[in-house]
Amino acid sequence: MSNDTSLLQLKDISREFPSAEGGAPLKVLRGLSMDVARGESIAIVGPSGCGKSTLLNLIGTLDQPTDGAIAFDGRNLIALNDDELALLRNREMGFIFQNHHLLPQCTVMENVLVPTLAHGRATADDEERARHLLDRVSLGERLSHRPGQLSGGERQRVAVVRALINQPQLLLADEPTGALDQTTADQLGQLLVELNAEKNVTLITVTHSEKLAARMTRTVELKDGQIA
Ligand SMILES: Nc1ncnc2c1ncn2[C@@H]1O[C@H](COP(=O)(O)OP(=O)(O)O)[C@@H](O)[C@H]1O
Ligand SMILES: [Mg+2]
Repeated sequence: MSNDTSLLQLKDISREFPSAEGGAPLKVLRGLSMDVARGESIAIVGPSGCGKSTLLNLIGTLDQPTDGAIAFDGRNLIALNDDELALLRNREMGFIFQNHHLLPQCTVMENVLVPTLAHGRATADDEERARHLLDRVSLGERLSHRPGQLSGGERQRVAVVRALINQPQLLLADEPTGALDQTTADQLGQLLVELNAEKNVTLITVTHSEKLAARMTRTVELKDGQIA
């Protein structure tokens, strides 16, 4: 890991999608540039359909830009092959979505350990970290429960722990509070900010919630495929 204060640099990113009918391509991102410092917490906001998820997917290497460059921790993402990207995603990034995407047949503990299985069995260290993190989000007594036995907020907290289990540098969240009631959403927002500081993990979250955005150190507004 470099000591550079910059974790992520996007330069002149564009992302076009081919139109279904063979007409002009849909230009979602148009020459977007953005710098993210280590430890920052950033809200990405903008109207539905403006390209927030598209941007998050590019940062998370789940998709590739039509044009432009992305550097993460000093590495040019465009130059990495699929195996290298998979490793980077697994080890250095954590993902949270609007819906928890937990495995219904697995326990809380098993769900949290899923990202550690990419390279063999979960180690004693992994389990220790899982216990500690689940304790931290007040789920220490729920290790053997299944997702169906948890509330929406609890399930989302399990998803947060799963995203953090490999101690990523970057946590990416796409409308993490979108499916929660106001009180539960507030609590999750508070938790994300606390973990951002405690775990030294950079946080980028897409949100429609002004309240969640206000908790971040910076808000980035997408407009016409660029940062407004
Ligand atoms: N794989 C895709 N193929 C074609 N169009 C897409 C694809 N993904 C997203 N889009 C389009 O790109 C635009 C931005 O989508 P998205 O990033 O999901 O918006 P947001 O997350 O801001 O609501 C939308 O018009 C959407 O329909
Ligand atoms: Mg979206």
